Amino acid sequence: MTQIGCVQSWSLGVTLQLILAVALHQGFATVAPPTTAPTTAAPHKEPSRPERGNYVVKGSNGTACLLASMGLQLNVTFSSLSQNKTVQGVVNIQPSLTNSSGSCDSDSAYLRLTTDAEKTNLTFTFTLNTTSNKYHLSEVSLSAAWPDMKDSISVRNNSLDYLRGTLGFSYMCREEQTLNVAQNLSINTFQVQVQPFGLSGNQFGAAEECQLDEDDMLIPIIVGAALAGLVLIVLLAYLIGRKRSHAGYQTI
Ligand SMILES: *[C@@H]1O[C@H](CO)[C@@H](O)[C@H](O)[C@H]1NC(C)=O
Ligand SMILES: *[C@@H]1O[C@H](CO)[C@@H](O)[C@H](O)[C@H]1NC(C)=O
Ligand SMILES: *[C@@H]1O[C@H](CO)[C@@H](O)[C@H](O)[C@H]1NC(C)=O
Ligand SMILES: *[C@@H]1O[C@H](CO)[C@@H](O)[C@H](O)[C@H]1NC(C)=O
Ligand SMILES: *[C@@H]1O[C@H](CO)[C@@H](O)[C@H](O)[C@H]1NC(C)=O
Ligand SMILES: *[C@@H]1O[C@H](CO)[C@@H](O)[C@H](O)[C@H]1NC(C)=O
Ligand SMILES: *[C@@H]1O[C@H](CO)[C@@H](O)[C@H](O)[C@H]1NC(C)=O
Ligand SMILES: *[C@@H]1O[C@H](CO)[C@@H](O)[C@H](O)[C@H]1NC(C)=O
Repeated sequence: MTQIGCVQSWSLGVTLQLILAVALHQGFATVAPPTTAPTTAAPHKEPSRPERGNYVVKGSNGTACLLASMGLQLNVTFSSLSQNKTVQGVVNIQPSLTNSSGSCDSDSAYLRLTTDAEKTNLTFTFTLNTTSNKYHLSEVSLSAAWPDMKDSISVRNNSLDYLRGTLGFSYMCREEQTLNVAQNLSINTFQVQVQPFGLSGNQFGAAEECQLDEDDMLIPIIVGAALAGLVLIVLLAYLIGRKRSHAGYQTI
C-alpha cells in the first residue's frame, strides 16, 4: 500500500509542476513587460475595457470592402496643461461617439475613425501584397487635440506590420494586443476581427486566429493531457501494487 501512495504522490508532484510551468509561461506570454520605462508615473486611473465597435467601409459599388469589429484604447504621451508635465493619457474609443469612414483600392484600404467633433482622428491603413495575397496593417496615424493638451499632437508610422492575414480571410484576436506605433503612442486592441480585402457580401470570411489565441487554447489541451497521464499512472500503480500484494500473500 505504501508503494502505491509513493508512486501516486510522485506523479501528482510531476503533474502539478507541469501545470505550474504552463501557467507561469502563460503569465509571461500575455503580460508583456514594458520595453521602455515610463517617463512619469501615470496619474490617470486605468480606464475600463473599451467597448467593441463595429466599423464598415463601403466601396464605390455600395458593398462593404472593409469590416472591423474591435475595442480600441489609445495610450498617448503628451504635455498636460493642468499638470504642467508629460503624462500618459489612456483613452477608450467609444463606438457610439465615433464616426467611421474610409476607402478601398485594389492593394490598400483605409479606415478613419473620428470622435468628439474631430478632436481625435485615427486612421488605419491596410496593405495587400498582391503577389503573396497577404495583407497587414501598415500604417497608423493619429491627430488629437484634447482639452488638456498643451499642443495638439500628430503621430504617424507607415512601416508597421500588424494584424497579418490572408486575402479572403478575416484576422481575429480575442486576446488583448498592444500595437506600438511610436514612442508616444501605442494602441491596445481588444477582441479584434478585421478584414480589409476580399469580402464576399457584407460578412467576414473565415477567421485566422492570432498566435496569442492559439497559445491560449494550448493550455487546456496540455492540462487535460497531464490529467489523463496522472489517471493512467495512478491506475497502473494500483494494478502493479495489487499484483505485488497478491504475490506477497501467496508466499507467506
Ligand atoms: C501606456 O504606455 C506606458 C509606456 O509606454 C506603459 O507603461 C503603460 O502601461 C501603458 N498603459 C496601458 C493601459 O497600456
Ligand atoms: C464591388 O466591388 C468589389 C471590388 O471593389 C467586388 O469584389 C465586388 O464583387 C463588387 N460587388 C458587386 C455587387 O458588384
Ligand atoms: C511648469 O514647469 C516648469 C518647469 O518644469 C516651470 O519652469 C514653469 O514655471 C511651470 N509652469 C507653471 C504654469 O506652473
Ligand atoms: C458624426 O457625423 C455626423 C454627421 O456628419 C455629425 O453630425 C456628428 O457630430 C459626428 N459625430 C462625431 C462623434 O463626430
Ligand atoms: C510580397 O510578397 C512576396 C512573396 O512573399 C515578397 O517577395 C515581396 O517582397 C512582397 N512585396 C512587398 C511589396 O512587400
Ligand atoms: C481631424 O480631421 C479634420 C478633417 O480633416 C480636421 O478638420 C481636424 O482638425 C482634425 N483634428 C485634429 C485633432 O487634427
Ligand atoms: C511622437 O513621436 C514621434 C516619433 O517617435 C515624433 O516624430 C513626434 O514629434 C512625437 N509627437 C509628439 C507630440 O511628441
Ligand atoms: C514605426 O514602427 C516600427 C515597427 O514597430 C518601429 O521599428 C519604428 O521605430 C517606428 N517608427 C517611429 C517613427 O516610431
